[in-house]
Amino acid sequence: MRDRVSFTIDGREIEAERGEPLAVALLAAGEGTLARSPKLHRPRGPACLRGDCDGCLARVDGVPNVMTCLADAHGGEVVEAQNVLGSRKVDLLRMTDWFFPKGIDHHHLMAGIPGVQNVMQTFARQMAGIGKLPERPADPLPAARIDCDVLVVGAGLAGLSCAAELSRAGVSVLVVDDGHAPGGSANAAGPDAMAEAERLTAALHGAIRSRTTCAGFYDRDALLAGKAGALIATPKIAVAATGAHDGVLLVAGNDLPGVMGARAVASLAHRGIVPSAGAVIVGSGPFAAPTERALGARALRRVSESEVEAIEGSSRVEAVKLKSGERITCGVVAVATPPAPSFELAEQRGAKTTRTESGFAVVTDDKGRAAEDLYAVGEACGAPFDVAALIESGARAARAITAALA
Ligand code: FES
Repeated sequence: MRDRVSFTIDGREIEAERGEPLAVALLAAGEGTLARSPKLHRPRGPACLRGDCDGCLARVDGVPNVMTCLADAHGGEVVEAQNVLGSRKVDLLRMTDWFFPKGIDHHHLMAGIPGVQNVMQTFARQMAGIGKLPERPADPLPAARIDCDVLVVGAGLAGLSCAAELSRAGVSVLVVDDGHAPGGSANAAGPDAMAEAERLTAALHGAIRSRTTCAGFYDRDALLAGKAGALIATPKIAVAATGAHDGVLLVAGNDLPGVMGARAVASLAHRGIVPSAGAVIVGSGPFAAPTERALGARALRRVSESEVEAIEGSSRVEAVKLKSGERITCGVVAVATPPAPSFELAEQRGAKTTRTESGFAVVTDDKGRAAEDLYAVGEACGAPFDVAALIESGARAARAITAALA
């Protein structure tokens, strides 16, 4: 039986399942416009549900800029929209488009005009930034060292498979992941992929820290930042299983609330949260078909990226306009273009990258070795999302690491 709790957003009570991300409960309640962009305060909504965009930022219990897709609902939270002029659901600052159709150059606007310049600067200062400072300073969080022979960054299928194989071989392994729960894209791919992720997670016997970000490597130290504080690990070997970023649609309106990564849309649908006005799926990447299946009758149409002229709406998605002139009314646009490999952490640790059709990818040898004491597995290396191939990619690297540590 579900453990129901409630919290509020701008005074409205929202029901949630205890432990589910606040952003998921808000989307289920039809609250898809949560945040504002830093400069022009354009409406933003959750787009990735994996801590990879800024669409879900809100003030929670007086703390600004909380990523609500990574914050658990415990009950009683007070969520407030930040950077809002007027109503969260009405974008009053769209009027700036009429006055400045080519955008605002706030560095030079009214500069040099006595008096007016000062008014303009005051206005620009008010508009800048995201959120307001907390009501009270946060208590300092502790820092500690943590031991492990192998640090795996990323708890998607490839990372979990690598770590599970290492654990079976008796290697001390720690997995960190900045997501809400282990599984990565498996949560979007469907029940079989989710079952594999659960099986691999269980084999790790708790050696996973979710919502813990590997901020970077400094010599041999890895700086890990989590809710409870900072950890420093000095692994003998690191594994980058960092997955891939959602693709981006290069059309007008691509930042409206309701434009979401297909993975986020599919994972919501697996929780029973589907857009009442239906979704248009754009692109033919690996998550197009799973998203279509997960949405069922709410998948209105699947179109290619090149067919789309613009996404229309004022404070959220209302329609997709095609180059043919057709307009498809919808509530969500699921961006299913091929994801771009998340190469950044491996590159910072010394890996080389190569350009692929969907972005830069980590270069490895046939065992997954990317640099001295660094391996990379799965989508970070440009591998397409394929459950069996991702699991084998992680296991192959684990066998090589076990041999190297022997
Ligand atoms: S960071 Fe929360 S939805 Fe993208």
